[in-house]
Amino acid sequence: MRTLVITGGTDGIGRALALHHLAEGDRVVAVGTSQAKGRSLLAEAARLGAGDRCTFVAADLSSTTGTVSLAEQLRRQHPVIDVLVLGAFRYQLTRQETGEGFERTFALYVLSRFLLVEGLRDALEQASRPIVVNLCGTGGIRAGELHWDDLQLREGYRAFAATMQGARANDLLGAAFAAEHPDSPIRYVLYNPMFVDTGLADPFRQPVRGVVKLLAKLFATPVERAIRPITELIGSPPEAVLSAYRVRRRVDVAGPAFDPVDARRLTARLRELTAPSGRMSE
Ligand SMILES: NC(=O)c1ccc[n+]([C@@H]2O[C@H](COP(=O)([O-])OP(=O)(O)OC[C@H]3O[C@@H](n4cnc5c(N)ncnc54)[C@H](OP(=O)(O)O)[C@@H]3O)[C@@H](O)[C@H]2O)c1
Repeated sequence: MRTLVITGGTDGIGRALALHHLAEGDRVVAVGTSQAKGRSLLAEAARLGAGDRCTFVAADLSSTTGTVSLAEQLRRQHPVIDVLVLGAFRYQLTRQETGEGFERTFALYVLSRFLLVEGLRDALEQASRPIVVNLCGTGGIRAGELHWDDLQLREGYRAFAATMQGARANDLLGAAFAAEHPDSPIRYVLYNPMFVDTGLADPFRQPVRGVVKLLAKLFATPVERAIRPITELIGSPPEAVLSAYRVRRRVDVAGPAFDPVDARRLTARLRELTAPSGRMSE
């Protein structure tokens, strides 16, 4: 029986992956903030006869201290973790700061993913074919850049720019992992599911919400179909330490988006920011 930790496992793609793997006989730990969504997942797991293999952990991953404690707790409870799916995300229409002083998209989409992989690496390396699946925006829209002088986007925040900065940062997190751990048994997969019919419209106000919902119904992939390539990757991890996919199409990880110098620069900055004295200093 494999153990999967799925952040954002209570909704959208993460929830569909959780239910698929529970039905396959795996153990799933789903992380999210909403107790109601957690209860709903547990109820569905029980209905599948997998209640004893499903755990919901309520944690706010936009907190770096919360993320570090979650990793400690998971390591203690699950010394062997086969699969880590990084799927927690929320589109932030307006700029918000966490209690630690980080812009919320950056905290959730970049810092927590970096910290979770670091914090769970030992437990993942105990598994026979461990894999990290980072659900992100790799190889998709050619937009977005790291605002090295203003990573917290204090100047002229735009929700799309924050999301795209996060997407570019996640490409670099994958590159940094491969550079820092070339001999690790962990396969790090950056995976862009493209347009999937999940709760994408929820953050928007009307009438935009209605338009996004309609576009999703018309053009987005249904979530049950969207998870198929992901479950195949989990079942049969790629050979290379780092790989990237846009749905089923390979993305070249030697491209400029994965620049090793930028990757080192980013992880050095993240380590500075998350060191106890670094918080709120940017
Ligand atoms: N859907 C798409 O078209 C699409 C396209 C490209 C990439 N992706 C990527 O795929 C992943 C999943 O997307 P989705 O559309 O399936 O997402 P979704 O349906 O919006 O679900 C997001 C999940 O993240 C959790 N979450 C949000 N904020 C959190 C926080 N602070 N701490 C812990 N958990 C938190 C939510 O739980 P709570 O509400 O309980 O917090 C929920 O389980 C994301 O990483 C996204 O970037 C999606």
